Amino acid sequence: SRTVQRDADGVVTVGGLDVAALAAEFGTPAYFLDEDDFRARCRAWKDAFGPGADVFYAGKAFLSRAIVRWLHEEGLNLDVCSGGELATALAAGMPPEQIALHGNNKSTEEITRAVEVGVGRIVLDSFQEMVRVAHVAERLGKRQRVQIRVTVGVEAHTHEFIATAHEDQKFGIALAGGQAAEAVRRALKLDGLELIGIHSHIGSQIFDMAGFEVSARRVVQLLTEVRDEHGIELPEIDLGGGLGIAYTSDDDPREPHEIATALGEIVRRECESAGLRMPRLSVEPGRAIVGPTAFTLYEVGTVKELEGLRTYVSVDGGMSDNIRTALYDAEYSVALVSRTSDAEPMLSRVVGKHCESGDIVVRDAFLPADVAPGDLLAVPATGAYCRSMASNYNHSLRPPVVAVKDGAARVIVRRETEEDLLRLDVG
Ligand code: LLP
Repeated sequence: SRTVQRDADGVVTVGGLDVAALAAEFGTPAYFLDEDDFRARCRAWKDAFGPGADVFYAGKAFLSRAIVRWLHEEGLNLDVCSGGELATALAAGMPPEQIALHGNNKSTEEITRAVEVGVGRIVLDSFQEMVRVAHVAERLGKRQRVQIRVTVGVEAHTHEFIATAHEDQKFGIALAGGQAAEAVRRALKLDGLELIGIHSHIGSQIFDMAGFEVSARRVVQLLTEVRDEHGIELPEIDLGGGLGIAYTSDDDPREPHEIATALGEIVRRECESAGLRMPRLSVEPGRAIVGPTAFTLYEVGTVKELEGLRTYVSVDGGMSDNIRTALYDAEYSVALVSRTSDAEPMLSRVVGKHCESGDIVVRDAFLPADVAPGDLLAVPATGAYCRSMASNYNHSLRPPVVAVKDGAARVIVRRETEEDLLRLDVG
């Protein structure tokens, strides 16, 4: 990984800092995030798409005030999907017009706040919500810029995309059966709305460009239909997030410029042949920006060798700081980082400290046979959907996020305390 380095003497560093020293200073478990890597990835996305497009970072992957500031400094926009994410974005000074609000069941409070502050776009997910947003905007004497989220009939998962069963999920309005065209018809009639474009998000952790390409084609097709029926050319297309990252050495992710080139070419070609003006493109990468930039550092507490099976290595965190293995059967790698070892590799399972057997961090890993209590283990690529999906299960205290840059480390989200836990308990 770009973030974690091991030098010739076996010393492991992140952003120039020794991980053992970091563990001593910040404790474990903790997430360490490489700020330069984060910023470099932001710039790679910006550069790949160029000035004619917008990159909205998907805050659900991981959001904090520092992250919002970095995004703003690097010229990215922000996709939020809840009142909490919106509040964080605003608290850190993201200009409202650079914020997009998502969600399949936004509350009236969330919609009202978003319209009041003037978010750049609300992505409409249903007919009912369309009316709700229009009413809020009219009541506030505003016209809210909106996109309609459509489901294009492509469902993309990890390595493949499947063109079946796609409509059977809760997000968006189906292109099939003329639903999306009907949504456009209705949106154009509502005074409180300014329909600026169409949105499509097909899934997450995707490696295959084919799903994105089908999605782009079908969205342009809808733009063409809208032009033919209403005589207007919607000026924007958002093709969502979803680009996959490498969790293990088996994964071979696409780079931002590859997706930018593929999407740009398809949209341009389809628009040309339909006689449409090229719309402004936007995308919403979350995982691909923040995922690779952080790792989780754990300390080993106990080691249990199950004869003929494997060795269970228990660490001081688990499903409360990384639910993805338990929830999606996600694969991670792990490395002993506090020392070198010449011991034989042994088949290990890295597990947490929670009270259930599904509490697995890394299902299958080869760790040196002499791994022992007190050793530090690093699990890379935990920047996305780990801290943001962390829980207080078993009343665990959620770990801090420590940003590392230029040989200095600083906490950007502090470790929870027992006081934090008890603050909510008012019984
Ligand atoms: N835009 C929309 C509308 C989305 O729903 C999502 C993710 C994104 C953008 C960002 O997708 P990304 O580039 O991060 O793949 N918890 C799951 C992932 C859920 C993704 C939900 N939507 C996981 O840990 O794999």
